[in-house]
Order: sequence, then C-alpha cells, then structure tokens
Amino acid sequence: MPSNVIVGLQWGDEGKGKITDLLSKNSDYVIRYQGGNNSGHSIHINNRYFILHLIPSGVIYPYVKCIVGPGVVIDPKCFIQEIKNLESMKINTSKIFLAKRAHLTMPYHRLLDQYKEEYLGKRSIGTTHRGIGPTYEDKIARMGIRALDLLNLKNFYKKLKWNIFFKNEIITKVYKKNPIDFESIYEEYIEYAKILFDRIIDAVYEIHYAFYHEKKILFEGAQATLLDINYGTYPYVTTSSASTGGVCIGSGIPPNFLKNFIGVAKAYCTRVGFGPFPTEIKNGICDIIRKKGNEYGSTTRRPRRCGWLDLIALKYSCMINGINYLIFTKLDVLSELEVIKVCIKYEFRGKIIKKFPANIEEKDIIKGIYIDLPGWEQDIYNINEYENLPKNCKKYIRFIENYLKLEILLISVGSERNQNIIKNKFLFNNIFF
Ligand code: GDP
Ligand code: IMO
Ligand code: MG
Repeated sequence: MPSNVIVGLQWGDEGKGKITDLLSKNSDYVIRYQGGNNSGHSIHINNRYFILHLIPSGVIYPYVKCIVGPGVVIDPKCFIQEIKNLESMKINTSKIFLAKRAHLTMPYHRLLDQYKEEYLGKRSIGTTHRGIGPTYEDKIARMGIRALDLLNLKNFYKKLKWNIFFKNEIITKVYKKNPIDFESIYEEYIEYAKILFDRIIDAVYEIHYAFYHEKKILFEGAQATLLDINYGTYPYVTTSSASTGGVCIGSGIPPNFLKNFIGVAKAYCTRVGFGPFPTEIKNGICDIIRKKGNEYGSTTRRPRRCGWLDLIALKYSCMINGINYLIFTKLDVLSELEVIKVCIKYEFRGKIIKKFPANIEEKDIIKGIYIDLPGWEQDIYNINEYENLPKNCKKYIRFIENYLKLEILLISVGSERNQNIIKNKFLFNNIFF
C-alpha cells in the first residue's frame, strides 16, 4: 500500500507531532527517517502531554509499530529515558524498534557540539547541543558507530577505542579541554546494549515486508525544509535531509513506495537558533504570538523567534517536497490580531524578488514585503466545522490556498488531539481512513 509522508515546511515546530499522532490512528507503522533528539514533537491528549524526541509520534496507539529508521542518529541515553517516560504514562512500548544502521550519538558528540559552538562565537549556528551535527559528521567521515555495533561488543570496543583516541586529539589540541575517558563510556554503553538488544532490527527488510503486505506506513519528518542540509538556509540548518527526499535515503525504500506528501505549516513562522528569517517580527506582536502560541523550544526551551507567514518560503518548500496536501496549524494563535500580514515578495540586495534565494549571506538583509489581511478578532479554538469559521479567517485560508495552488486538508486550532477542522472530509478520509 503506498505510503504517506508528513514533513515540516518552515523552520520546525509546525506541529508535526500533533498531526502525526492524529494521522497514526489508521497506520500500522510510523517511521522516523532523519534527525535525532534535536527534535521535540508534542502531543496533547486530555490533559496528558507527551514530548517525543526520538520515538515516532504514532506511539500513543498501542497497535502502531514505531521504527527509528536507519537515517536517524540516536542517542541511546535519551531513547531509553523516553521509553521509560512512556512506560510511566502506561503507554505500550513493546512495539518500538531501532534500525541496525542508525548511527549512535555518543557523549563526545554532545561535547564536540558544545565546544564547537563556543569556539565559533558569533559564527555559531545556535544548535541544540544534542550532538547531532558531530554524529552525522562521523557518519559521513566513515567512522561512526551504529546501533548494530551494540550487538557485537568486540566490534563496539574496537570502534569506541579508536574514536575516543581520535576525538581526544581534537578535544585537547583544538578545543584545549580535558580528554574524555574510554572506560566510563564503554561501561555506560554496555548497559544500553543490554537494554536495547531486542529492539534493534533490520528495519529495511521490516519496512519492505510491511509494504508488500499492504500495511499502512506513515513517515514522520523531523526539523523541516528550511533547516534541510541541502535546501535550507545554509549554513544555519541542521545536518540531515529533512525534506521528503530524505525518506528514501533514511529508510531504505524506493521513491515509488510513496504516494501522499503532506506538508505541515504554521499560520505564521517561527525559528529557534540563528540564521536568516525574512518575516521576523521585531515588535510587541512577536510577544503576543509567542505567548499565545507558547513558542518556546520543546527541546531546549529557548524562546522561538516569531514572524509573519512567508508565502515565498512556503511555496519553495512545497516545491522541494512535492507537497500534494497542506495541513495548517496554530491558526487560533492569530485570533486576537487586528491585521495579519502575509509575505508575498522579498526585498533583497536592492531588488524585489519572488523566489527563495540560495545565497543569503551573513551581511544580507532580506526583508519581507507584505499584503495586509483583516484579522477576525475572535477565538476559534472550539470551532470544528469550516463553515463556522469567521469570514476573515476563511479569507485568510483562501488567500493561502490560491497563492500556493494547493488544498488545505485540515486546520488545527489548538494543541489538543481533537482541536481540528477537517476542511475536505472526502479527501481526508480517502487518504487516511
Ligand atoms: P513539532 O516539532 O513540529 O512537532 O512541533 P512542536 O511540538 O515542537 O511545537 C508545536 C507546539 O504547538 C506544541 O506545543 C503543540 O502542542 C502546539 N500546537 C500544535 N498545534 C497547535 C494548534 O493548532 N494551536 C495551538 N495553539 N497549539 C498547537
Ligand atoms: P522539530 O523536529 C526547530 C535547529 C536548531 C538550530 C539548527 C541546528 O521539533 O521541528 P542542530 O542541533 O540540529 O545541529 O541545530 O536547527 N533545530 C530545530 N529547530 N525544531 C526542530 O526540530 C529543530 N531541530 C534542530 O535550533 O537552529
Ligand atoms: Mg518541535
């Protein structure tokens, strides 16, 4: 059965966790294919809050198999803690699996992430300090340690020994910090190996088997297109392929397994960390949005930078990902605004442009040019039917659909699992149920 992909279209935190949970109800598998515990995906069900960093957001349903795929980098400490947290909330964790090929984030990756950011000073990226970049660096440098190495401790010993020797050269000579100790890390990871032994599987065969047995598979993206290593606002990006192209690379499937590419976008924009942000709001409206939208990082609790909806960036993201349907979240957050700005052009290096530029350099100022749409100035969080939305709210939605030439399938109007407006019920049921 052709599979569906959910992907973020802005700079992350669009509400992928909420949407993946919602659409997992009718899935057999939910699979993460890239990123690591730099993600924080929130789910809110009847006063219960879950923040998932590594485990796919299908986990709340007891029957959904959740696979942390080959393209993910996994910090076992975080992964095991997350499983424990879920167990303490009475969630069935027996169907959580980890791909053999997933690379392991090690304590020295977290240190190197932090040391490099400190070293870079004002050139830093504003990473999550979770060691994600250094883990992918080792993968590409062909010296990474994979989940499967935890199944063969002799191999693990050798690889760790060599890695620690090499990292200590960098830690002591470049960063002038204290060397790290082999023994304590080895012992720590032996314990993880025992705990994880039964969860480490050959995910590639499992996914292919599932596909040929007509199972419903949902791929859950982490981070988002504008943080994608190739297509994001480089160098202020993460280190994985966060766009739909990453699904095949990160889960070992061919492109023809995939059918629907569902893009999740917020009704405005946010970004955590540094880097270009053409529609960033630098006045009191930012505080209103941040407060109402609770815009603080799910992973680092940093306040998120807030900005107006950027249709140039959104159109670019839809193009990169081959989006066929949109899901629009956090529309409720804009409720009290009198005027809502939407960016439809940029002013960049003295020119008006309508394309997302590849080359926004440090010194560049890229400014959004806006169209003002009237706000609706009333709460919408308890509305479930599209017809019942205020007139100006529907106008906002139609404007976006017309600009992007795409249909919005669902509008999310609150963090709760059921705070949604299914705009096109026929299509929605056809795709997911
Ligand atoms: P993700 O990384 O894309 O999964 O998004 P996060 O979970 O990091 O951030 C989204 C935040 O918005 C979480 O706190 C969600 O509970 C919350 N949220 C999701 N959808 C909505 C919505 O439609 N309205 C409001 N007010 N909050 C939402
Ligand atoms: P989810 O899945 C928002 C950002 C960091 C930083 C940059 C690089 O919850 O949407 P990294 O630690 O990946 O090397 O940091 O990427 N970043 C995210 N921002 N949501 C995320 O994930 C993010 N994951 C990474 O803030 O700017
Ligand atoms: Mg998040």
